[in-house]
Amino acid sequence: MYKNIPEFEVLPQHVGFIMDGNGRWAKNRGLERSAGHKEGAKTFRRICEYCADVGIKHMTFYAFSTENWSRPEKEVGALMKLFKEYLLEGEERTAENDIRQMRLKFIGEKEGLPKDLLKLIEKAEKKTAKYSKITINIALNYGGRAEITHAVKSIAAKVADGEISVDDINENLVSDNIYTAGQPDPDIIVRPSGEFRLSNFLTWQSAYSEFWFSDVLWPDFTEENVNEILSDFQKRNRRFGGV
Ligand code: FPP
Repeated sequence: MYKNIPEFEVLPQHVGFIMDGNGRWAKNRGLERSAGHKEGAKTFRRICEYCADVGIKHMTFYAFSTENWSRPEKEVGALMKLFKEYLLEGEERTAENDIRQMRLKFIGEKEGLPKDLLKLIEKAEKKTAKYSKITINIALNYGGRAEITHAVKSIAAKVADGEISVDDINENLVSDNIYTAGQPDPDIIVRPSGEFRLSNFLTWQSAYSEFWFSDVLWPDFTEENVNEILSDFQKRNRRFGGV
């Protein structure tokens, strides 16, 4: 448990993180890109634990996009290995998991992921379903447009089956058919590493999200950066289209 957490009057319910800059972090040190991802995975753990202690209830981390398959085979392999290692370690940390109470959820296309990874994902989701301190969504083989397409197909199938009519289709129904169904939309999306784009992340959910950008590379991201985000969030005047 973290001590000395500053008091924040308003906390975002859901924070999204685009974990960018691992490759540059490694290059700056003359290391292979995979070393940057490995360090990024450590940052991911640290930030999850800190945000859980702060009291944030939902987080989504962009770990691998539907477009990331076009990276060199070696890099993709190293990333898949990292995801597996993380889940295998989680299986062994039962006592720690009971203390941390983090629910894990993987969002994205299951098709295309290695079978052994899929099994670990299923197990981790089942095992952590009882935890309610925080929900950690890991966006893996995720694309916002693919997610919306997926939702459109399931809604169309329900119409075709006569389960619902076209008039039943509304924004709530779409929200109920995307991967984050039942969770609040992200209040703020964080992108470090000096880039200013969403890159197909939470396309539907981000309609009214605030954004926070910084030059820090993801492996260098700290708890202090989270405090900066939360202080900044206090000053945002969210109007949701009103005045
Ligand atoms: C983008 O940075 C980062 C990724 C494509 C991978 C992110 C994944 C992790 C940090 C591992 C997370 C681990 C777990 C267990 C969820 P980049 O490589 O494009 O950076 P660059 O723009 O500097 O090249």
